[in-house]
Order: sequence, then structure tokens, then C-alpha cells
Amino acid sequence: PETGCLSIVVLGASGDLAKKKTFPALFHLFVQGFLQSNEVHIFGYARSKISDDDLRNRLRGYLVQGKTTDSEQLEEVSKFLQLIKYVSGSYDSAEGFQKLDKEISEHEISRNSIEGSSRRLFYFALPPSVYPSVCKMIKHYCMNKSDLGGWTRIVVEKPFGKDLASAEKLSSQIGELFDEPQIYRIDHYLGKELVQNLLVLRFANRFFLPLWNRDNIANVQIVFREDFGTDGRGGYFDEYGIIRDIIQNHLLQVLCLVAMEKPISLKPEHIRDEKVKVLQSVLPIKDEEVVLGQYEGYRDDPTVPDHSNTPTFATMVLRIHNERWEGVPFIMKAGKALSSRKAEIRVQFKDVPGDIFRCKKQGRNEFVIRLQPSEAMYMKLTVKKPGLEMSTVQSELDLSYRQRYQGVTIPEAYERLILDTIRGDQQHFVRRDELKAAWEIFTPLLHRIDNGELKSIPYKQGSRGPAEADELLEKAGYVQTHGY
Ligand code: BG6
Repeated sequence: PETGCLSIVVLGASGDLAKKKTFPALFHLFVQGFLQSNEVHIFGYARSKISDDDLRNRLRGYLVQGKTTDSEQLEEVSKFLQLIKYVSGSYDSAEGFQKLDKEISEHEISRNSIEGSSRRLFYFALPPSVYPSVCKMIKHYCMNKSDLGGWTRIVVEKPFGKDLASAEKLSSQIGELFDEPQIYRIDHYLGKELVQNLLVLRFANRFFLPLWNRDNIANVQIVFREDFGTDGRGGYFDEYGIIRDIIQNHLLQVLCLVAMEKPISLKPEHIRDEKVKVLQSVLPIKDEEVVLGQYEGYRDDPTVPDHSNTPTFATMVLRIHNERWEGVPFIMKAGKALSSRKAEIRVQFKDVPGDIFRCKKQGRNEFVIRLQPSEAMYMKLTVKKPGLEMSTVQSELDLSYRQRYQGVTIPEAYERLILDTIRGDQQHFVRRDELKAAWEIFTPLLHRIDNGELKSIPYKQGSRGPAEADELLEKAGYVQTHGY
């Protein structure tokens, strides 16, 4: 039963992630009535010695939209901020977490919660280096005391390790203290509207069922581009690089949903079972199917070493060794400081055999799912060019969400995922074996890059990335479509 009082603890409350993502998501849930003030309390925990009001004032600017004077909105922000209390302490101090537990318990008593029926959610907006000690502290001092329908859950963010060995170590450390149903590993791409739409699209539409395989699909691209660089995050980024930052998690999760078999049901375990099978079927990545890049100016960041080889761009081909996908390249592309910001999936179909219209060079059928910005799905197809001549042209069947669903607000990924953690739905979270399989795919390649065996090619900021990436795409069989 999800009725006991709810305490949400944001650890790392004054950090960037908490301010920009966690608290705003909680605020939106509050505004929509998912967090009731008579049962919810939010605790910020961090090292700095500040007061409740200091934290509230710091957060206000992230919750108020622009320079609004809308009194209703300002009042909601104030009401929300009143739910927040701050507790200071270090991430390995018994004293700090005992204090936190006392505050939570007082809140539970004040809400007349039956002991044990209360719910405690710990959101780690923290660097992973402190995860093990924070887990220990929570386990020893802050758990919900009995199990009268209550629970304790933790929400953790990537990076989950740097390679297979470190990720497994971290998983074991956390796994010794918490059971899998208590652990919510967030990958915020799983909270995006069009990513969540993938299962429906694939398994609720007759259109796609017979076509979604190696007989009809020539190649699949999963693309992430950003038009800004590492912007003050150079120190973090240089340790990880674009493969660990984007491809190993966000794009790989998308690949799973594009490639997986139909699950037995929509139960989280059934869906995650199928995702794991896809990951376990991915073949080792070949060096000749990888292009790495680094944008010029990246090393100007004082926190980035002068000789860094860390890629800020990567294109690579993944190959899935199973009956459905053998021979179909899955091209993963991610880059920072490029010409545009966009995330999309492009499924390119094979040529029509016996091309009586001689329209092949106009391009192939392509199904594009644009995750952001401006969510959309469109299908490139060949039609008769309107007019007296019998000639053909490439056109589009277009479902643009902004037009089709006017007035519908698409929720932020974090908002949706935090609500899932409260409801206990793990469908859109990464399971431990999934994480392991994901690291197994990339670890050998990452080690070769870290050893300097593969070099990043410089590219200009605001460009499409290194030209070699387009060559790789062509070699993998992608055919550019020309349209009108
Ligand atoms: C984060 C990465 O996980 O995702 C960032 O660490 C990246 O480097 C961000 O900018 C992109 O998220 P979104 O939702 O803006 O595509």
C-alpha cells in the first residue's frame, strides 16, 4: 500500500544535479498533486552548513520560471519550499545520518504515521565515489524500521563505474546492503516520451511487426548531438569521455528498446529480461568500425590535461548476433560541440527489388523517431510527384507531437522517473545484470582508447564532427536521402 507518509531525501542537495533536475522535478510533481503536503516531507542533505532558508532561497531561482510575477506560481513555489528541510553532515559520518534519521522520524510521527508504514526515498545527487559510504550510513541509521507496508529505496545516477571491473565492484558494494527491488538506477533517457513510446510503437502496430528485421532493415542509426561543449564540466568529462557519458548508457538503452524481442508481458522483469538478451548478443566492437573525435578548444578548459585524448565525439557500429538482426549495422553516434542539438533514431529500409520507377537514387524508406527537440516521428517514402508527369519524389508522412497533441505538456524525464520510484515501478530503470552486460560491450574498446591505441581526430566546433565518421556511415551501408 502506498499510503504511509513519504520522506524524500535529496543527498547532495546543493549540487548541480539536485538544483537543475531533482528539485524542479519534485516541484512539478507537487504542482500536479502527486506529492501531498499532508504526507510528504523533503529533506536536503549536504556538507555545507547552511540553514533551511538558505537552501530554499538557492532553489527558488530554479523553480520560478523566468521573471514571472504570476502570484499563483510564486505561491506554489513558496508552498513547495516550505516542505523542504535541510540537514548538514558529511557523507561518511554516523552523526550526520543519525541526525537525518531523527528529522525523518519526527516528520513521520508528526504525520501520525503507523511505525513501519512510512516510505523513505533517498535520491543520490552525488559523485559515485561516495555511494558505498552513503549506502552504509543509510543502511545503519536511516532505514524504515519495520515492514508494515513501508519501504526504503535508493535512487542512483550514472556513472556506475568506469569499466566492467569498477562497475561490478560498485554493484557488489551496494548489493550487499540493498536488494535489487530497492535500487533504482536512473538513466534519464528511459524517461523521455519517445523512448517510452518505442514499445508501444513496435508491439501495438501491425505495420512494423513483419518489417522489423534483417530482411527489410538495412541499418539503424541512434544519434545524439549537442551544440555545446563540456561547459565547465571538463574535469568530470575528461575522466569519462563521450562513450561512457552517452553511448554506453543513454544510446544503448535506446538500442535495446529498438532491437529487443516482444516481452511476455509489460512486467518490468519481463521487459528487462529481453533487454539483457539483446545486450548479451552484441558482438565485440571492431577498431575499424570506430571513429573518435575531439573538438578543437576542448583542452583550453584548465581542468582538462593538455594532452588529453578523451573523445568528445564517437561513431561506431554495433552488431547484434541473433536471428532478427544478423548483418544489420546499428550505428551509434554521439558528439558535443556540433552544428545542432538533436537526438534521433533512424531506421533505414532496404531498396525495393525490381526498381521499375528508377527512383532508387532518390533515397530509401526511412523511419525517423526524433526524441528531441520537438518530438516527432516521420516516415520518408517515395510518392508520385504531383502534376502531369509520371515521376517520383521523396516525401514524408509526418507526426509532429507539437501539432498533433496541441496543449499537451510532455513531462520531463526526471519527473516521470521519480514518480516511478515512489510508485515502485522499475520498468524504466537499469537492472544490475543489464548494467553488467552494457559494460561488457564497451570495456575492451574503452581500455584500448585509455591506452592510447585509438586516437581522437580533431574537429571544428559547430561542425558535423570528423569527416571519417561520415565515411564509416557510408561503409556501413547508410544511404543519404535527398528529398525535394
Ligand atoms: C547527461 C550527460 O547524462 O546527459 C550530459 O552527462 C548530457 O553530458 C546530457 O549533456 C544530455 O541529456 P539531454 O536530456 O539534454 O539529452
